[in-house]
Amino acid sequence: MKKILVVGSSNTDLIIKVPEIPRPGETLLGGLFQTFPGGKGANQAVAAARGGGDVIFIASVGDDAYGSEAVIGYKLDNINTENIKICKNSPSGIAMITVSHKGENAITVASGANLLLAPADLDDAEEAFDEADLMLIQLETPLETVAKAIELCKELNTKVILNPAPAAALPDEILSGIGIITPNETEAESLTGISIKNENDAGMAAAWLHKKGVRKVIITMGASGAYVSDSASGCRMMVPGFDVKAEDTTAAGDVFNGQLAVALTEGKSLQDSVRLAHAAAALSVQKMGAQSSIPRREETNHFLAGKLKKL
Ligand code: RIB
Repeated sequence: MKKILVVGSSNTDLIIKVPEIPRPGETLLGGLFQTFPGGKGANQAVAAARGGGDVIFIASVGDDAYGSEAVIGYKLDNINTENIKICKNSPSGIAMITVSHKGENAITVASGANLLLAPADLDDAEEAFDEADLMLIQLETPLETVAKAIELCKELNTKVILNPAPAAALPDEILSGIGIITPNETEAESLTGISIKNENDAGMAAAWLHKKGVRKVIITMGASGAYVSDSASGCRMMVPGFDVKAEDTTAAGDVFNGQLAVALTEGKSLQDSVRLAHAAAALSVQKMGAQSSIPRREETNHFLAGKLKKL
Protein backbone atom coordinates (compact mmCIF):
# COMPACT_ATOMS: atom_id res chain seq x y z
CA MET A 1 0.00 0.00 0.00
CA LYS A 2 1.26 3.50 -0.81
CA LYS A 3 2.27 5.66 2.15
CA ILE A 4 0.78 9.02 3.01
CA LEU A 5 2.86 11.44 5.06
CA VAL A 6 0.91 14.07 7.01
CA VAL A 7 2.87 16.98 8.48
CA GLY A 8 0.81 19.22 10.73
CA SER A 9 -0.86 20.23 13.95
CA SER A 10 -2.30 18.25 16.83
CA ASN A 11 -4.83 19.96 19.12
CA THR A 12 -7.41 19.13 21.73
CA ASP A 13 -10.75 20.77 20.93
CA LEU A 14 -12.81 22.26 23.77
CA ILE A 15 -16.31 22.64 22.37
CA ILE A 16 -19.51 24.35 23.50
CA LYS A 17 -22.72 24.15 21.47
CA VAL A 18 -24.37 27.61 21.35
CA PRO A 19 -27.62 28.99 19.89
CA GLU A 20 -25.62 31.46 17.74
CA ILE A 21 -21.90 32.28 17.43
CA PRO A 22 -21.41 35.08 20.05
CA ARG A 23 -20.80 38.65 18.92
CA PRO A 24 -17.91 40.70 20.44
CA GLY A 25 -18.74 41.65 24.03
CA GLU A 26 -21.64 39.19 24.28
CA THR A 27 -22.02 36.51 26.99
CA LEU A 28 -24.03 33.51 25.86
CA LEU A 29 -25.35 30.59 27.85
CA GLY A 30 -24.40 27.55 25.80
CA GLY A 31 -25.13 23.84 25.96
CA LEU A 32 -23.01 20.81 26.71
CA PHE A 33 -19.21 21.20 27.00
CA GLN A 34 -17.28 18.45 25.21
CA THR A 35 -13.61 17.65 24.63
CA PHE A 36 -12.48 15.93 21.41
CA PRO A 37 -9.14 15.33 19.70
CA GLY A 38 -8.56 17.78 16.84
CA GLY A 39 -6.02 19.87 14.97
CA LYS A 40 -6.03 20.16 11.20
CA GLY A 41 -2.97 17.95 10.72
CA ALA A 42 -4.18 15.26 13.09
CA ASN A 43 -7.72 15.32 11.70
CA GLN A 44 -6.33 14.83 8.19
CA ALA A 45 -4.04 12.02 9.36
CA VAL A 46 -6.94 10.24 11.07
CA ALA A 47 -9.23 10.82 8.07
CA ALA A 48 -6.62 9.30 5.76
CA ALA A 49 -6.08 6.31 8.10
CA ARG A 50 -9.81 5.60 8.55
CA GLY A 51 -10.24 6.23 4.83
CA GLY A 52 -7.96 3.27 4.08
CA GLY A 53 -4.49 4.89 3.95
CA ASP A 54 -1.15 3.85 5.43
CA VAL A 55 -0.28 7.02 7.34
CA ILE A 56 2.84 8.51 8.92
CA PHE A 57 2.19 11.64 11.02
CA ILE A 58 4.86 14.23 11.81
CA ALA A 59 3.75 16.61 14.57
CA SER A 60 4.68 18.18 17.86
CA VAL A 61 2.79 17.89 21.16
CA GLY A 62 3.48 19.12 24.70
CA ASP A 63 4.46 16.93 27.64
CA ASP A 64 0.96 17.17 29.15
CA ALA A 65 -2.05 14.86 29.34
CA TYR A 66 -3.61 16.40 26.19
CA GLY A 67 -0.55 15.50 24.14
CA SER A 68 -0.14 11.95 25.44
CA GLU A 69 -3.86 11.17 25.02
CA ALA A 70 -3.75 12.50 21.48
CA VAL A 71 -0.83 10.22 20.57
CA ILE A 72 -2.61 7.20 22.08
CA GLY A 73 -5.57 8.01 19.82
CA TYR A 74 -3.40 8.18 16.67
CA LYS A 75 -1.88 4.79 17.53
CA LEU A 76 -5.38 3.31 17.89
CA ASP A 77 -6.01 4.49 14.33
CA ASN A 78 -2.86 2.63 13.21
CA ILE A 79 -1.00 5.83 12.41
CA ASN A 80 2.80 5.70 12.55
CA THR A 81 3.63 8.12 15.41
CA GLU A 82 7.42 7.58 15.54
CA ASN A 83 8.02 11.14 14.32
CA ILE A 84 5.75 12.93 16.79
CA LYS A 85 7.95 15.15 18.94
CA ILE A 86 7.10 15.57 22.64
CA CYS A 87 8.21 19.02 23.79
CA LYS A 88 9.33 19.42 27.39
CA ASN A 89 7.69 22.25 29.36
CA SER A 90 5.32 23.18 26.57
CA PRO A 91 1.54 22.94 26.48
CA SER A 92 -0.08 20.97 23.66
CA GLY A 93 -2.22 22.79 21.10
CA ILE A 94 -5.73 23.71 22.26
CA ALA A 95 -8.70 24.93 20.19
CA MET A 96 -11.69 26.69 21.78
CA ILE A 97 -14.68 26.04 19.52
CA THR A 98 -18.25 27.28 19.58
CA VAL A 99 -20.72 25.44 17.33
CA SER A 100 -24.07 27.04 16.43
CA HIS A 101 -27.41 25.25 16.00
CA LYS A 102 -26.79 25.43 12.21
CA GLY A 103 -23.52 23.49 12.65
CA GLU A 104 -21.37 26.53 11.87
CA ASN A 105 -18.32 27.10 14.07
CA ALA A 106 -15.89 29.72 15.34
CA ILE A 107 -12.44 28.42 16.31
CA THR A 108 -9.60 30.05 18.30
CA VAL A 109 -6.35 28.09 18.54
CA ALA A 110 -3.60 28.35 21.18
CA SER A 111 -0.90 26.66 19.10
CA GLY A 112 1.40 25.61 21.98
CA ALA A 113 3.81 22.87 20.88
CA ASN A 114 2.63 23.05 17.26
CA LEU A 115 4.80 26.17 16.90
CA LEU A 116 7.83 24.14 18.02
CA LEU A 117 7.75 21.85 14.99
CA ALA A 118 10.96 23.15 13.43
CA PRO A 119 12.55 22.60 9.99
CA ALA A 120 15.33 20.60 11.74
CA ASP A 121 12.72 18.10 12.99
CA LEU A 122 12.09 17.16 9.37
CA ASP A 123 15.76 16.21 8.93
CA ASP A 124 15.26 13.75 11.80
CA ALA A 125 12.31 12.25 9.89
CA GLU A 126 14.30 11.52 6.73
CA GLU A 127 13.06 7.94 6.50
CA ALA A 128 9.43 9.07 6.61
CA PHE A 129 10.03 11.44 3.68
CA ASP A 130 11.87 8.70 1.75
CA GLU A 131 9.01 6.25 2.21
CA ALA A 132 6.15 8.63 1.40
CA ASP A 133 4.30 8.51 -1.91
CA LEU A 134 2.29 11.65 -1.10
CA MET A 135 2.52 14.38 1.52
CA LEU A 136 -0.49 16.23 2.93
CA ILE A 137 0.25 19.49 4.76
CA GLN A 138 -1.62 22.53 6.17
CA LEU A 139 -0.70 25.88 7.74
CA GLU A 140 -1.09 25.35 11.51
CA THR A 141 2.66 24.77 11.99
CA PRO A 142 5.44 27.35 11.32
CA LEU A 143 5.63 28.48 7.69
CA GLU A 144 9.39 27.76 7.50
CA THR A 145 8.64 24.13 8.43
CA VAL A 146 5.93 23.94 5.77
CA ALA A 147 8.39 25.40 3.23
CA LYS A 148 11.09 22.88 4.21
CA ALA A 149 8.67 19.92 3.97
CA ILE A 150 7.60 21.01 0.48
CA GLU A 151 11.26 21.49 -0.53
CA LEU A 152 12.12 17.95 0.65
CA CYS A 153 9.20 16.55 -1.36
CA LYS A 154 10.36 18.48 -4.43
CA GLU A 155 13.82 16.89 -4.13
CA LEU A 156 12.29 13.43 -3.76
CA ASN A 157 9.66 13.99 -6.47
CA THR A 158 6.91 13.22 -3.94
CA LYS A 159 3.39 14.53 -4.65
CA VAL A 160 2.22 17.33 -2.33
CA ILE A 161 -1.31 18.33 -1.36
CA LEU A 162 -1.39 21.66 0.47
CA ASN A 163 -4.57 22.47 2.36
CA PRO A 164 -3.89 26.20 2.93
CA ALA A 165 -5.76 26.45 6.23
CA PRO A 166 -5.96 28.64 8.25
CA ALA A 167 -6.10 31.27 5.48
CA ALA A 168 -2.82 33.02 4.63
CA ALA A 169 -1.00 34.61 1.71
CA LEU A 170 1.87 32.38 0.58
CA PRO A 171 5.23 33.12 -1.08
CA ASP A 172 5.75 31.97 -4.68
CA GLU A 173 8.47 29.45 -3.63
CA ILE A 174 5.88 27.49 -1.64
CA LEU A 175 3.19 27.64 -4.33
CA SER A 176 5.57 26.48 -7.07
CA GLY A 177 6.33 23.22 -5.20
CA ILE A 178 2.72 22.10 -4.87
CA GLY A 179 0.95 19.55 -7.07
CA ILE A 180 -2.50 20.02 -5.57
CA ILE A 181 -3.95 22.87 -3.50
CA THR A 182 -7.30 22.63 -1.71
CA PRO A 183 -8.46 26.03 -0.39
CA ASN A 184 -12.03 26.89 0.58
CA GLU A 185 -13.46 30.17 -0.76
CA THR A 186 -11.97 32.34 2.03
CA GLU A 187 -8.56 30.69 1.76
CA ALA A 188 -8.59 31.03 -2.04
CA GLU A 189 -9.30 34.76 -1.64
CA SER A 190 -6.41 35.15 0.85
CA LEU A 191 -4.07 33.45 -1.61
CA THR A 192 -5.17 35.17 -4.82
CA GLY A 193 -6.97 38.37 -3.79
CA ILE A 194 -9.98 37.20 -5.85
CA SER A 195 -13.26 37.06 -3.93
CA ILE A 196 -15.00 33.76 -4.71
CA LYS A 197 -18.77 34.01 -5.08
CA ASN A 198 -19.39 31.67 -8.02
CA GLU A 199 -17.84 29.20 -10.43
CA ASN A 200 -16.50 31.96 -12.64
CA ASP A 201 -14.58 33.55 -9.72
CA ALA A 202 -13.25 30.10 -8.76
CA GLY A 203 -12.02 29.66 -12.34
CA MET A 204 -10.13 32.97 -12.14
CA ALA A 205 -8.57 32.04 -8.78
CA ALA A 206 -7.55 28.64 -10.16
CA ALA A 207 -5.95 30.29 -13.21
CA TRP A 208 -3.99 32.60 -10.85
CA LEU A 209 -2.73 29.59 -8.88
CA HIS A 210 -1.83 27.66 -12.06
CA LYS A 211 0.30 30.67 -13.13
CA LYS A 212 2.23 30.31 -9.86
CA GLY A 213 3.00 26.68 -10.77
CA VAL A 214 0.25 24.76 -8.90
CA ARG A 215 -0.89 21.96 -11.22
CA LYS A 216 -4.26 20.97 -9.72
CA VAL A 217 -6.60 23.33 -7.88
CA ILE A 218 -9.61 22.15 -5.87
CA ILE A 219 -11.63 25.02 -4.36
CA THR A 220 -14.20 23.72 -1.88
CA MET A 221 -17.35 25.85 -2.03
CA GLY A 222 -19.59 24.60 0.76
CA ALA A 223 -23.01 23.40 -0.39
CA SER A 224 -22.17 24.02 -4.09
CA GLY A 225 -19.42 21.36 -4.08
CA ALA A 226 -15.87 21.83 -5.31
CA TYR A 227 -14.41 23.59 -8.33
CA VAL A 228 -11.70 21.40 -9.85
CA SER A 229 -9.11 22.65 -12.33
CA ASP A 230 -6.20 20.66 -13.78
CA SER A 231 -3.67 22.68 -15.77
CA ALA A 232 -2.16 19.58 -17.42
CA SER A 233 -5.37 18.10 -18.85
CA GLY A 234 -7.22 21.42 -19.18
CA CYS A 235 -10.15 19.85 -17.31
CA ARG A 236 -12.30 22.36 -15.37
CA MET A 237 -15.52 21.34 -13.63
CA MET A 238 -17.73 21.60 -10.57
CA VAL A 239 -18.00 18.35 -8.62
CA PRO A 240 -21.22 18.69 -6.57
CA GLY A 241 -21.27 17.76 -2.88
CA PHE A 242 -24.02 16.00 -0.89
CA ASP A 243 -26.85 17.81 0.83
CA VAL A 244 -27.06 16.64 4.47
CA LYS A 245 -28.24 18.24 7.72
CA ALA A 246 -25.15 19.48 9.56
CA GLU A 247 -24.77 18.97 13.29
CA ASP A 248 -21.17 20.28 13.37
CA THR A 249 -19.05 21.28 10.36
CA THR A 250 -15.77 21.28 12.36
CA ALA A 251 -13.11 19.32 10.45
CA ALA A 252 -15.26 18.79 7.34
CA GLY A 253 -12.41 20.24 5.26
CA ASP A 254 -9.89 18.00 7.03
CA VAL A 255 -11.94 14.88 6.36
CA PHE A 256 -12.24 15.95 2.71
CA ASN A 257 -8.45 16.30 2.43
CA GLY A 258 -7.60 13.05 4.21
CA GLN A 259 -9.96 10.99 2.07
CA LEU A 260 -8.85 12.83 -1.08
CA ALA A 261 -5.23 11.89 -0.39
CA VAL A 262 -6.14 8.22 -0.02
CA ALA A 263 -8.24 8.14 -3.19
CA LEU A 264 -5.44 9.76 -5.22
CA THR A 265 -2.82 7.30 -3.95
CA GLU A 266 -5.21 4.52 -4.98
CA GLY A 267 -5.01 5.88 -8.52
CA LYS A 268 -8.59 7.19 -8.73
CA SER A 269 -9.30 10.07 -11.11
CA LEU A 270 -9.42 13.59 -9.70
CA GLN A 271 -13.20 13.70 -10.15
CA ASP A 272 -13.81 10.34 -8.42
CA SER A 273 -11.39 11.27 -5.64
CA VAL A 274 -13.22 14.54 -4.99
CA ARG A 275 -16.57 12.71 -4.98
CA LEU A 276 -15.30 10.22 -2.38
CA ALA A 277 -13.87 13.09 -0.32
CA HIS A 278 -17.25 14.89 -0.44
CA ALA A 279 -18.95 11.70 0.79
CA ALA A 280 -16.60 11.35 3.78
CA ALA A 281 -17.05 15.05 4.64
CA ALA A 282 -20.86 14.76 4.37
CA LEU A 283 -20.81 11.91 6.88
CA SER A 284 -18.52 13.82 9.27
CA VAL A 285 -20.72 16.95 9.52
CA GLN A 286 -23.62 14.85 10.81
CA LYS A 287 -21.74 14.14 14.07
CA MET A 288 -20.22 16.38 16.78
CA GLY A 289 -16.48 16.95 17.02
CA ALA A 290 -13.45 16.61 14.77
CA GLN A 291 -11.87 13.14 15.04
CA SER A 292 -14.99 11.80 16.76
CA SER A 293 -16.91 12.42 13.52
CA ILE A 294 -14.50 10.92 10.98
CA PRO A 295 -16.00 7.96 9.10
CA ARG A 296 -14.31 4.69 8.17
CA ARG A 297 -13.92 3.82 4.50
CA GLU A 298 -16.71 1.21 4.53
CA GLU A 299 -19.22 3.83 5.75
CA THR A 300 -18.08 6.29 3.10
CA ASN A 301 -18.27 3.70 0.32
CA HIS A 302 -21.74 2.66 1.51
CA PHE A 303 -22.98 6.29 1.64
CA LEU A 304 -21.58 7.05 -1.82
CA ALA A 305 -22.99 3.89 -3.38
CA GLY A 306 -26.44 4.80 -1.99
CA LYS A 307 -26.23 8.32 -3.44
CA LEU A 308 -25.00 7.14 -6.86
CA LYS A 309 -27.84 4.57 -7.06
CA LYS A 310 -30.35 7.42 -6.77
CA LEU A 311 -28.86 9.34 -9.72
O1 RIB B 1 -10.22 22.11 11.03
C1 RIB B 1 -10.74 21.93 12.31
C2 RIB B 1 -9.66 22.02 13.34
O2 RIB B 1 -9.15 23.33 13.36
C3 RIB B 1 -10.10 21.75 14.76
O3 RIB B 1 -10.03 20.39 15.10
C4 RIB B 1 -9.20 22.65 15.59
O4 RIB B 1 -8.32 21.96 16.41
C5 RIB B 1 -8.47 23.54 14.57
O5 RIB B 1 -7.18 23.15 14.37
